Amino acid sequence: MPLNVVKAGQETIAVEVTERFREKTEPFFWPLIGDYPLYDRYIYLVMMADPEREAVYEAAIQRNCRDKVVVDVGTGDTAIWALAAARAGARKVYALEENPKSAARARKVIAEAGFESIIEVLEGRSDTLEVIETADLMISEVIGEIGGSEGTAAVLNDVRNRWLKPDARSIPARCLTWACPVELPDAVMEHPKLELMGRRYVEQIFQLADTPFDLRLTLDNCFPEIESGRLSAPAVMEDLNFGAHCPTDYETTHRFEITKSGRFDGIILWIELFADEIEPGISSMTPGSNWRPVFLPLFSPGAKVAEGDEIVLEWSSRLSEDGHHPDYTAKATLRSESGTHTAALRLPRYGTADDFRQNAFYEKLFPRD
Ligand SMILES: C[S@@+](CC[C@H](N)C(=O)[O-])C[C@H]1O[C@@H](n2cnc3c(N)ncnc32)[C@H](O)[C@@H]1O
Repeated sequence: MPLNVVKAGQETIAVEVTERFREKTEPFFWPLIGDYPLYDRYIYLVMMADPEREAVYEAAIQRNCRDKVVVDVGTGDTAIWALAAARAGARKVYALEENPKSAARARKVIAEAGFESIIEVLEGRSDTLEVIETADLMISEVIGEIGGSEGTAAVLNDVRNRWLKPDARSIPARCLTWACPVELPDAVMEHPKLELMGRRYVEQIFQLADTPFDLRLTLDNCFPEIESGRLSAPAVMEDLNFGAHCPTDYETTHRFEITKSGRFDGIILWIELFADEIEPGISSMTPGSNWRPVFLPLFSPGAKVAEGDEIVLEWSSRLSEDGHHPDYTAKATLRSESGTHTAALRLPRYGTADDFRQNAFYEKLFPRD
């Protein structure tokens, strides 16, 4: 399949861009690539192609930067927020970046923009970098498709503790991850498909884990069907308030009352991100967002549900061995006329062979030869 050609500054690279995703006619799955050290030019371009994300961050940065010392956590290839802060009048910006290639590219774009004296790029993972000067404002976008899945809580807690003045603010201010039981189209459940480029990242993630496993999945090109397939009112599964210490290990239990008859296939998760207290929240349920909704295929095959039934979802987040990325588990208990049925999924960041093909859905996604 030919890839689109995209100009990125001086460079011309071949990528499949979000416009093409929108044109696709079938729903497809992708891995949560931001949870892994796989950032490449393509991923940065997809982030830059999200106008809502840029608009709310830009507006919040404009409001909060004049004469301030700013720390930009994970500045990326583009140093997009560091440059915005400098243009908005920040006195000094420390731009932290763990990926050496990205740090080098960030230095280049900052020099080209003439902001070398204001923005200092510090290369390394944020928790290994020494504090140079305490800051009035922390800017970051290490937000996952499950809000905290990129290690957000542990990373930002550490920056808050060491780099920030007591009354310092954070952009973004808050991230909610919503959950809702859902019925998906038969074709999605019967013949789940990984998108072509997504499959390449899946291979890379399996290599990093040294084994295939049931990875966390986003679902794209399926927005109207997700909306019409909701079986209940949604609930917040994770609430990260970046103005304070964020929980790294937590459990959330919610009882969903079924409001519509259908088939319970699993849980849809999506984020609502607030850049500051003024900007409206942006959502991964919006087509064109660089974040996508996540699907937890808990019941496979799906279970019939009727109005008045209940699904209790038990969700847990625990810090993984690396000390900042979370591992997740999800368990759903369905209480209906036909009795009580329970299903569970382990969704660690790096699974083992025991986490491969946990149910019929993953058997279909990763068929045996
Ligand atoms: C989602 S990208 C955001 C890039 C850019 N700020 C933007 O919003 O377009 C996250 C970036 O943060 C970097 N990163 C993630 N965790 C980090 C950490 N703990 N310390 C330094 N950089 C980190 C990644 O390498 C990546 O470049």
